[in-house]
This record gives sequence, structure tokens and C-alpha cells, in this order.
Amino acid sequence: MTKNSFNHQKHLSYKKTINLGSYYTNSDHISNVFDFIAPYIDKSFTILDSSCGYGNFLQNISNKKIGNDIDKIAIDIASENINDVSFFNFNALENVNRSQYEIEKNEKLCIVGNPPYNDKTSIIRNKVKEVDFNIDDDIKTRDLGISFLKSYAKLNADIICVLHPLSYLIKKANFSLLKKFSQNYKLIKAKIISSESFIGSSKGMPFPIIIGLYTKNNDGMSFDYIKNFNFEIKDNLFFKINLFDYMPNYIKKYPSKYDKIKDDSVLFWTLRDINALKRNKTFIHKENQNAILIELDKLDYYIYVDVFKRYTSCIPYYLGNCDIIIDNNLFLEYKKYFILDGLFHNPHLRKHYANFDFTKSQYKPIAKKKILSYFHKLLGEHICKLKQ
Ligand SMILES: C[S@@+](CC[C@H](N)C(=O)[O-])C[C@H]1O[C@@H](n2cnc3c(N)ncnc32)[C@H](O)[C@@H]1O
Repeated sequence: MTKNSFNHQKHLSYKKTINLGSYYTNSDHISNVFDFIAPYIDKSFTILDSSCGYGNFLQNISNKKIGNDIDKIAIDIASENINDVSFFNFNALENVNRSQYEIEKNEKLCIVGNPPYNDKTSIIRNKVKEVDFNIDDDIKTRDLGISFLKSYAKLNADIICVLHPLSYLIKKANFSLLKKFSQNYKLIKAKIISSESFIGSSKGMPFPIIIGLYTKNNDGMSFDYIKNFNFEIKDNLFFKINLFDYMPNYIKKYPSKYDKIKDDSVLFWTLRDINALKRNKTFIHKENQNAILIELDKLDYYIYVDVFKRYTSCIPYYLGNCDIIIDNNLFLEYKKYFILDGLFHNPHLRKHYANFDFTKSQYKPIAKKKILSYFHKLLGEHICKLKQ
């Protein structure tokens, strides 16, 4: 293996690759990790990658280094190519303990790497997903990557710098699963990268991943801390959750068991994040378990979501796991153009806007221009070019 070489995984089948999350990390991202940790570690730190694949993270640093992977072939290849690393071959999520890695209790430990992410409840590729190893009860969750973060806390690492989906931090339900980790570690620096930068993963619908640097901290971090955290996108471009306002502040996201759906009810598909909106329907005509019964006084806002779906190519990939964003005052200003576009695409709604003149044909190009101008103002420097 030459210096700074990046070896991408080539010994596993498609199914095994998905189940082990074996999408190896390129050298740019690895350099980024080492730039992040440089101010926080010295020669006395031991560097561990507990899911190291071919050991891409364990080159070009002279500290004591330890690599482990559940994948025997990966570890065989790693040990053939790198000789100053102690390699192990076990399941990093079972009997999590420093002694497994022969690390002393008082040794200063820095964990690096890119653990597998594999949400067992996600519908994407779920036909091939299976996890056939044990996970300690105290770190067991529905997502392997979240379990890995908890395993780092169990190993009592001093510094952690790993890649993981942004959704672990920004989705409240995920953040709550992280408890033992979030109570003891604090995010110091984070850069957002696209899942598209991994060979073979999620083509078509990229999702945001972060390179996150965490240090041990008795106060940990709260969800409010994350909401105000500046995630770096590129030089001089940052994103924080509190930069935007979100649709759940205006309409409900999920069906309610109290909904009494009738023949003439207006129905909408369950609202999840922006990436889900890209895949899913908006207004629907038949009742099903994903059908939300719309309160008619909120119809304008559901139309907003329907229009939003047609403009999602303006939205950068790193907002893909956020709720649908809105600037309510601006929306009120531009509302008639949204309604126009919504009624044009959903004729069944026209009866709810009896006094609204949507027939004037010159409105169509104007509406598009105005809606684009709304998105420019909403997103500012985050706007992407609309794909026609
Ligand atoms: C995203 S790859 C990262 C590999 C390497 N760190 C890199 O970035 O080039 C995830 C790795 O986690 C390993 N893995 C998955 N489940 C594991 C487990 N329970 N214990 C240890 N390793 C595991 C996979 O075999 C795979 O090599």
C-alpha cells in the first residue's frame, strides 16, 4: 500500500457490502479527520479504528495504532499491507471493553473511523438487510452506527473523530437514542460531506454525512446545542438547524387515530424529511395508513408542501434529512403563486378555492418565476440550481 493510498473494498458481495456497511473512506475524508484531531492529540494517544476494513485510517501516523474488523478477509488484507498496527478480528459491538483491544484503563484513546450505518427499520434496501451478530444490550439500537457511537463512549475514548449520518444528531428521535454518548461527549467541529462520495452507496438520493470531532465532556451536549451548531459545508459556508423554520410548526406530520375520514376528505401523505418528500406522494385520493386528514383551514400549507416537492432540486442535499423548511412571512407574501401552482397540478382542490382565479394563463410562467424568487430568498446562499 503506497502512502496516502485509498483502497476501496472489493472482496464482498453486494448483499454483504450492504449488511456490513462496507463503503470504505477516501483519502480526502481521512485527511480531514486527521486535521481535525491534530490539535487535540499528541504522541501519547493510542489511535483505534474498531471497524477498520483494510486499515485506510491507520496509515501515515506514528502513534500506537489498533485496528479491528468483523470481516476476516478485510483484516487479512490489512495485516498484509500495514505492519505497524495491532489487528484484531471480532465483533466490535459485543462485550465492548478496552481489554478486548489490549488497551490499558489509563491509556489516552482517540477513536477514528467510519462505522457502518444500517438502519434496520429504514425501508431502503431492507430486503437484503440482516444483522447476524450480537450487540450488547446497553448499546443496542435500530441503527448500527448509533450503536457504534455508544460503543466509543463505553470504551471511554478521550477523542472521537468519525464519519456518521447527520441524521443521528439532527433528528430528535435519533438524538434521544444516543443518550450515553451525548451525555459524555460534545461535538466540537463538524464538516458535512455527501454520501455520494462513497463508491457504491446511495446513488440518486444523496444524504448528508458528517466528519464529526467529539471530545469527552462532563456536560455532554443537548439537542438545543445541536440546533445551534454550525456545520461546515465548505469554506465560509455553514448550516445550522436554527437557520430555518420548519413545517411541523404549521401542520401535522402524521395521521391521527382520531381522524374521521369521509368520502370528500382531502388527504395527504405522511410528512417525513425532505428526502422522503422527494420519494413520496403529496395529495392522495384513497385512505391508507399513511393518509393524513387535512384540516381545510391549513390547506394552503399542504399546497406549499406539494409545490415544494416540485422545487426540491433547489434544495441542497445537506438539508435532505431536515423537515420541510418554510419562511412563513415570505410564504404569506407569495402565497397566491403557490396556490396557483398547487391548483394547476391538483384540479380536485379547485373547489376549495372557489373565489380564486387560477384560469388566467399568463399566471403560469409568472407563478414559476415568483416561486423561484421565494426559494432564493428562503435559501439565500444555500440555493441550488433548479433542474428543469
Ligand atoms: C464504512 S466501512 C469502514 C472501513 C474503514 N474504516 C474505511 O473507512 O476505509 C465499515 C466497516 O465496518 C465493519 N463492521 C461492520 N459491522 C462490524 C462489527 N459489528 N464489528 C466490527 N466491524 C464491523 C465492516 O466490515 C466494514 O469494514
